Amino acid sequence: MKTSLRRFENKSILVTGGSSGIGKATAERFAREGGRVLIFADRPEELRQTANNFRAEGLDVIECPGNVAAAGDVDRAVAQAISAFGRIDVLVSNAGFVYNEPFLEISEEHWDRLMAVNLKGMFLFSQRVARQMRSQGSGGVLLFTASVNGLSAETGLASYNVSKAGIILLMKTLALELAPHRIRANAVCPGIIDTPNTHDFIMRDPKWPQYARSIPWGRAGRPSEVAAAFAFLASDDAEYITGECLVIDGGQIVNGGVKTGENRRFEIIVSSTV
Ligand SMILES: NC(=O)c1ccc[n+]([C@@H]2O[C@H](COP(=O)([O-])OP(=O)(O)OC[C@H]3O[C@@H](n4cnc5c(N)ncnc54)[C@H](O)[C@@H]3O)[C@@H](O)[C@H]2O)c1
Repeated sequence: MKTSLRRFENKSILVTGGSSGIGKATAERFAREGGRVLIFADRPEELRQTANNFRAEGLDVIECPGNVAAAGDVDRAVAQAISAFGRIDVLVSNAGFVYNEPFLEISEEHWDRLMAVNLKGMFLFSQRVARQMRSQGSGGVLLFTASVNGLSAETGLASYNVSKAGIILLMKTLALELAPHRIRANAVCPGIIDTPNTHDFIMRDPKWPQYARSIPWGRAGRPSEVAAAFAFLASDDAEYITGECLVIDGGQIVNGGVKTGENRRFEIIVSSTV
């Protein structure tokens, strides 16, 4: 990914889920624009390799392994970023995963685990980082990876849909509560993005061609395209944008959502701004 922009020089950015997919591309984008980046993830080997590769390219990236759902790990990551960079200017709260299973078969254990990672993890990170930003006294930006699944429902994904809708309302509440501290909060709502998480479905699943036809742009998104949106939302150009969801889905939602026959999406919120 090439860019001549240098919008994040002297800025410190923390990216969760930064070892892979959207988080990795986002960390790279901020670092290529001059930012100092801490990546946090629960896959220690992949995390170390990713950070080493970035450093080999001259990017200012450090890593911290841990679980977003464990408050002690979150506190450790925030402390490490402050110790290394002196401050935190931007949080990209991105780590998450999905269980694809029928509602009638979801176990309590799966429900609790998904909410702990996808929702509580975002609460813990945004609260700890917002406290730090308040003490710095110069504002900041909190960004979240939600999903089009937080705006409309898709079968087989009840726990995931709920977690992503929760992230959107968390973000909107923070936009209200933290505006007096000049801390902005925004989310991106990606449609399907080609990451290690989705690659097999895109490359090999017989349902993919029909799924792709529901996307006016005709293809899956790229992690770098979500990263570019994060970089815009974190930049001074977005100074007056807070409490907003940016949909990045090649037009899929306005086209009525997912259509694979057995996998139907029902819109429950028609606009990202309601
Ligand atoms: N890929 C898509 O199509 C898509 C679409 C919409 C939203 N999203 C969201 O984007 C985010 C990233 O997805 P991706 O496709 O890049 O996934 P990925 O599997 O490529 O990467 C996930 C990252 O999150 C980290 N992670 C997962 N659980 C964690 C935990 N408990 N603690 C710390 N780190 C943890 C992993 O280590 C990894 O770094 C997720 O929140 C996902 O829900 C993805």
